[in-house]
Amino acid sequence: MKIERVLISADEISEKLAEMGAAISRDYEGRDLLMVGVLKGAFIVMADLARHIDIPVEFDFMAVSSYGAATKTSGVVRILKDLDDEIADRDVLIVEDIIDSGLTLQYLMRSLKVRHPASLELAALLVKDGVERPEIPIKYEGFHIPPEFVLGYGLDYEGYYRNLPYVGVMGDDDEDGG
Ligand code: IMP
Ligand code: MG
Repeated sequence: MKIERVLISADEISEKLAEMGAAISRDYEGRDLLMVGVLKGAFIVMADLARHIDIPVEFDFMAVSSYGAATKTSGVVRILKDLDDEIADRDVLIVEDIIDSGLTLQYLMRSLKVRHPASLELAALLVKDGVERPEIPIKYEGFHIPPEFVLGYGLDYEGYYRNLPYVGVMGDDDEDGG
């Protein structure tokens, strides 16, 4: 297994997160912002995005696991770690690494909505194009990418590659060169 090519460079990501952070800081000025990262994938996006937010903000994390194959989501989601605190009347912004089928997010947003937050929005670094998904409004989105399996910047293949500072596309082991 190796990385076939870099899809989005570290510099491009950093520039985009600065823009997203500025927009979030502007939109949530004077509000009660709670940013919720979806583990494990969002830990890097959250850490870097957080440093571009210049208003008061709290952070929390949820960990979910979807049943099924390694590279496909089944839509059945299990909450492994819930939020530490209640979110009633708070402005909640979910932070995700990537929206693929959207099923994980759909499930998460439903389970948070019933806790009556003042608002519930979504920020995602990557959105996969050409994928049929439920209508999920994404308030802050980084990049649209083709429907390929990507790695790095929090995204894993069988648990590895999350630490790559860029987003890359995976190649085959048995392929030569490139
Ligand atoms: P969704 O429910 O299909 O939108 O995807 C949920 C999760 O699947 C994401 O949060 C990622 O953890 C993972 N995922 C989706 N696409 C990719 C990919 O291309 N590479 C690595 N992980 C992915
Ligand atoms: Mg994953």
